[in-house]
Amino acid sequence: EKEIWVKLISCDEVEEDFGAKIERNGAPPLAVFRLGAEFFVTDDTCTHGEASLCDGEVFPNGEVSCPYHGGTFDIRSGAPCKYPCSVPIKIYKVRVIDGFVWADLEQA
Ligand code: FES
Repeated sequence: EKEIWVKLISCDEVEEDFGAKIERNGAPPLAVFRLGAEFFVTDDTCTHGEASLCDGEVFPNGEVSCPYHGGTFDIRSGAPCKYPCSVPIKIYKVRVIDGFVWADLEQA
């Protein structure tokens, strides 16, 4: 399988309480999240509506809340955890190299 690893952001720029939004030309934006020393990358746009998950709070249990209707997703698995979110968000494989977060944008 083809992998496309892309350097997204410095680890220092990712806060624990909010995701960091990564805009991409011609592709949906991504969200980079942090739980302690671990980083996670998901699609930024909620699957319930057009909300940016980077505008929602990240809870210590690893869920991010959508700013529109308060549904949540697990940032580790992409699984919907709270109504009205029911469709998982896409997640990406992550590597941290020399203080930067990379993601494999070819893989779900
Ligand atoms: Fe995200 Fe409705 S748009 S919960």
